[in-house]
Amino acid sequence: MKDAEPATLSADDWDELHFPRPETNDFDRVVERAISRRGFLGGAVAFGSGASAMGAGLMGSTAAHAVTASRFAFTPIAAQTDRTVHVPEGYEWKVLMRWGDPLFSAADGYDITNGGPVENSDKIFGENTDGMETFSFRGHELITINHENSNLKVNLPAAQAGVPANADEVLKIQNIQGVTVMEIKESAEGWLVVKDSPFNRRIHHNTPMKIVGPAAGHDLLKTDADPTGTTSLGTMNNCGSGKTPWGTYLTCEENFNGYFGSSDENASYNQKVADGMKRYGIKAESRNHYELYDPRFDTSKNPNEPHRAGWIVEIDPTEPDSTPIKHTGLGRFKHENAEVTLAADGRVVVYMGDDERGEYLYKFVSNAAYTPGIDTVRLLNDGTLHVAKFNDDATGEWLPLTPETTGMDAAEILIFTRMAATAAGGTTMDRPEWVASSPVAVEAYCCLTNNKNRGVKANAGGDDTSVNGPNPREANKYGQIVRWRPTDDDHAAETFDWDLYVMAGNPIVHSDARAGSANVNEGNLFNSPDGMAIDSTGLVWIQTDGNDDNEDDFAGNGNNQMLVGDPITGEIARFMTGPNGCEVTGLAWSTDRRTMFVGIQHPGGNWPDGDTPRSSVITIKRVDNGLIG
Ligand code: FEO
Ligand code: CA
Ligand code: CA
Repeated sequence: MKDAEPATLSADDWDELHFPRPETNDFDRVVERAISRRGFLGGAVAFGSGASAMGAGLMGSTAAHAVTASRFAFTPIAAQTDRTVHVPEGYEWKVLMRWGDPLFSAADGYDITNGGPVENSDKIFGENTDGMETFSFRGHELITINHENSNLKVNLPAAQAGVPANADEVLKIQNIQGVTVMEIKESAEGWLVVKDSPFNRRIHHNTPMKIVGPAAGHDLLKTDADPTGTTSLGTMNNCGSGKTPWGTYLTCEENFNGYFGSSDENASYNQKVADGMKRYGIKAESRNHYELYDPRFDTSKNPNEPHRAGWIVEIDPTEPDSTPIKHTGLGRFKHENAEVTLAADGRVVVYMGDDERGEYLYKFVSNAAYTPGIDTVRLLNDGTLHVAKFNDDATGEWLPLTPETTGMDAAEILIFTRMAATAAGGTTMDRPEWVASSPVAVEAYCCLTNNKNRGVKANAGGDDTSVNGPNPREANKYGQIVRWRPTDDDHAAETFDWDLYVMAGNPIVHSDARAGSANVNEGNLFNSPDGMAIDSTGLVWIQTDGNDDNEDDFAGNGNNQMLVGDPITGEIARFMTGPNGCEVTGLAWSTDRRTMFVGIQHPGGNWPDGDTPRSSVITIKRVDNGLIG
């Protein structure tokens, strides 16, 4: 891996370049440690149900992994390895919008082949679609979608090997990431984007934003360009999403560290800044090389600029001229998504994962209850951030991050949330990706996608990453989904019970813990759960971003995919497969629940058409136009 070029690595592997793990690990230990926890997992399934089968069958043989799919209104599909999308019989899919398609007439004919021009690069649908949410507003259907990152090798002349050669190239790369807001409508030919709609908008790395909440105005957020520490430019590495009860969109800044570099390898920083750079993975060598032509991203010149990224950003899709808001109250880390729900008394609860090996799961609880007309900026900032602690007896607690529990002041808890979580004693997790809460039961789920470092090496803060209850497999290749039920059916409660809804694995090639839990079988196996959403009936939709080479440990797994799980029985069925090379990420429904919008990020080959593969959003409908969630 040391020889790999940064532009070709995933964000997490890029982090590892400067933070290498030991060369070897004894995989036998994986099995041994997981088996020793079999009794515990069996006992962890007290609520829910399907889990009784899951716990009992955790170490079951392949034969015990039976194919079932009784609650689902479709026949599950087989794993696929080709370069297109598959859905069950009776369903159909279509492309809604591809990277490079014009949102405005001015960008008609924009050509991404061999990297498009900077002109109008802020008027096209961006690259690498990710989290998305739909909104219905005064008869208009709006969809808001993240563009997580850019493949610099595709977007820049091949000879440059992913390194920009001038400021225009940097600007173009900045423009094709961020967020798109667009109006859509259904026609006889299917769903279409309304080009030139007044709602259409691109938000990118240079869009003015407000910074609000307890850390706004802190010295660590001040720069020469913004001596107040209350405004910033742009949002970056927009990964998962969220939707507030008041109808706004939340975009979540994930691997922001890779955008910052230093023109001076020997630059020195004050101790707080240096400690933060180490914990968040900000190095002299950046992944995107912006600092070569845009000094804002050069930490030797602007050491505080990285503190202005890594936040949750609120966007009002119904107000195209509104200024996006960075909410410091929700903490700064590699945000996956922001799952918003309400506590029993109406307080706002936001669940959030920090997607890095051995980092943490968080919950924010507002001080005030949500009532229509209330100051919603307050609701996402005046409150308490907590980190999850999972006990091995299937209980857990939300540890408040306060000056008393962390030894840090209130603003620094939010700016350096990872260090606060370490100080408070949270449980290190196997890369928390999306959290989803159920609309029909007071419970929530988090995808723990995988973690090759579990039990192998500490996280960047030196925290212990030995196997633990919800992360029971060393060098975890497959991932799992943890589920929790808050005490007294109240998302604001400080305690909860938990279980593992599923442990992904491969029962074709393994018969030990690597086979996965009993609700994984030869007909539905998958790895690396990532995206997740729960539909109006309570079914759990799971999207994957994992190994799709279909060989060895992943034989029979096929391409990345979307599955659906029954929370009661634990049954899981494969609903969709993506083209080889892609991850499946982002899921939303039309207001009438007859259409699913699904994101296909970084497909291989030339999917969906033309010469260059393009991340795209697709629609999936039943052929009979029936409900789909
Ligand atoms: Fe952007 Fe953790 O996925
Ligand atoms: Ca993800
Ligand atoms: Ca992922």
